[in-house]
Amino acid sequence: MAKIQRCNYVMYLLVLILLIMNIFFFMKELESKSKCREQEKKKLSWSQRAAEEAEAVASISCSGHGKAYLDSLVVDGIPTCECYTCYTGPDCSLLIPNCSANAFGWDPLFYEPFWMENAESSAVVIAGWHRMAYSFPDPTSHLSQELEKTIRKLHSNAKNAITDGRYIAIGVGASRLLNAVVHSLSMENYSSSPYPAKFFAKPPHYPFYKLQTDYLQTRHYEFIGDPSLLNNSDIGGDVFEFVTSPSNPEGNLEGPVLKGGPNVKYIFDRVYYWPQFTAIPAPADDDLMIFSLSKLTGHAGTRLGWAVVKDVNVYNRMKEYIHQADMEISKDTLLRALTILRVVNEGDGKKFFNFAHEILRDRWEKISHIFSFSKRFSIQHIPTQYCTFLDRAREPSPAFAWVKCKREEDKNCTHVFFEEAKIRGHPGSGFFADNTYVRLGLVTRQHDFDMLISRLEQFISQDDDNGYCISPSINNQ
Ligand SMILES: Cc1ncc(COP(=O)(O)O)c(C=O)c1O
Ligand SMILES: *[C@@H]1O[C@H](CO)[C@@H](O)[C@H](O)[C@H]1NC(C)=O
Ligand SMILES: *[C@@H]1O[C@H](CO)[C@@H](O)[C@H](O)[C@H]1NC(C)=O
Ligand SMILES: *[C@@H]1O[C@H](CO)[C@@H](O)[C@H](O)[C@H]1NC(C)=O
Ligand SMILES: *[C@@H]1O[C@H](CO)[C@@H](O)[C@H](O)[C@H]1NC(C)=O
Repeated sequence: MAKIQRCNYVMYLLVLILLIMNIFFFMKELESKSKCREQEKKKLSWSQRAAEEAEAVASISCSGHGKAYLDSLVVDGIPTCECYTCYTGPDCSLLIPNCSANAFGWDPLFYEPFWMENAESSAVVIAGWHRMAYSFPDPTSHLSQELEKTIRKLHSNAKNAITDGRYIAIGVGASRLLNAVVHSLSMENYSSSPYPAKFFAKPPHYPFYKLQTDYLQTRHYEFIGDPSLLNNSDIGGDVFEFVTSPSNPEGNLEGPVLKGGPNVKYIFDRVYYWPQFTAIPAPADDDLMIFSLSKLTGHAGTRLGWAVVKDVNVYNRMKEYIHQADMEISKDTLLRALTILRVVNEGDGKKFFNFAHEILRDRWEKISHIFSFSKRFSIQHIPTQYCTFLDRAREPSPAFAWVKCKREEDKNCTHVFFEEAKIRGHPGSGFFADNTYVRLGLVTRQHDFDMLISRLEQFISQDDDNGYCISPSINNQ
């Protein structure tokens, strides 16, 4: 009996000890949790308000047809909606009647949903005291080591360019770098040559090569244009060719037209040489390659471009040009670019490039299908090519459709699309081609692209004599 009682006491004691231990650990955990919470609160002291403001403005819906930004016009204490094309009203809910489909624009806004899906990893907080100085602590370095590393990793992920042992120069967009390159190349032999350096680009080409080079004209260089204008007999001075590969507007991979000789050099504009726009047959290894955040991720407004350069002298003169023109690149831009590119690099770039490629591939399939029914119009041919990034042959997915009006009387193709289909395109003459061409942008927001497709479907079926049935009126799209 006494034995059993003693046993019970031991049991009670054990239970009591367990209970006390439990309470002790429970209290401990509560304590550590509240400490954690306190720490979290402490971590988010000064950034709390900025984060709240950013999320508040992002939650303004604008009917899904617009956006309010932190720096949008504030009315009655609230940032106002900025409506997408064809929408209006304070909340962007009104569709503008007879509005033309926007295929003119070059803002690559089709990426927007990716950045909204990846809102958390792509957001940046910039402290009031973030890198206020002109330079990084090492004044010879114009981008942070982290950004440079990230750019090199990006190219190795995308398998689109060799950067080992190459210099990386940065500029306010590819646009600024293009002139830095023109300057740098033309200065090399300037003192020993009585002739200005000559620059060429095969039409149709991106207009800035000519517009910028003419506008910023110096006695060191001139823009000539079509390489077929080069008279081999009377070249004086150095000769340079802009090679856009893939090209804008046509989207095909291109090589130089001008051949060899020590005085002929190439500037490879590779802003579209990414797996979403083109097959990547091999990593590019040109002497001078230009890339841009605009085309890669859609952040055209951030204004960052970079050049991959083999020759140290060319690189140094480019740096000197950027220093004279801009002093330094905005550190805010560099921080944002770093954050964005780190997201692109996640999972070796698969998630980002696949997202963008899928959209563009689908758009090309839709638009080329429609034009395949047309006798009046044709679009460029882009071959299916093996891509090392995807490790398979891939369907075309260019940024633009380059449309030709084939009828004798359709001399102004832009006019034909504008008047007859209510589609606003970019005239061929803008690319130094003739106006029987028009460029239709495929990197627009989904709404703009859907509108383009629905207008095209109706237009091509109405206008072409091909037995397709005629669709209802296009007036209120
Ligand atoms: C072929 C080509 N190069 C360069 C640029 C300019 O790029 P960025 O926005 O970086 O100045 C563009 C933009 O349209 C382009 O199409
Ligand atoms: C819309 O276009 C149609 C046909 O081109 C025209 O009759 C109509 O007046 C236009 N409406 C407006 C509001 O411009
Ligand atoms: C080539 O010669 C033609 C005719 O003489 C001239 O118009 C053209 O400007 C020359 N081209 C170059 C690049 O000098
Ligand atoms: C400058 O001239 C030399 C000698 O002709 C040539 O080898 C070199 O490539 C030229 N530089 C450029 C940038 O064209
Ligand atoms: C072609 O048509 C467009 C759209 O109607 C117009 O803006 C442009 O001025 C025309 N171009 C020429 C060369 O007539």
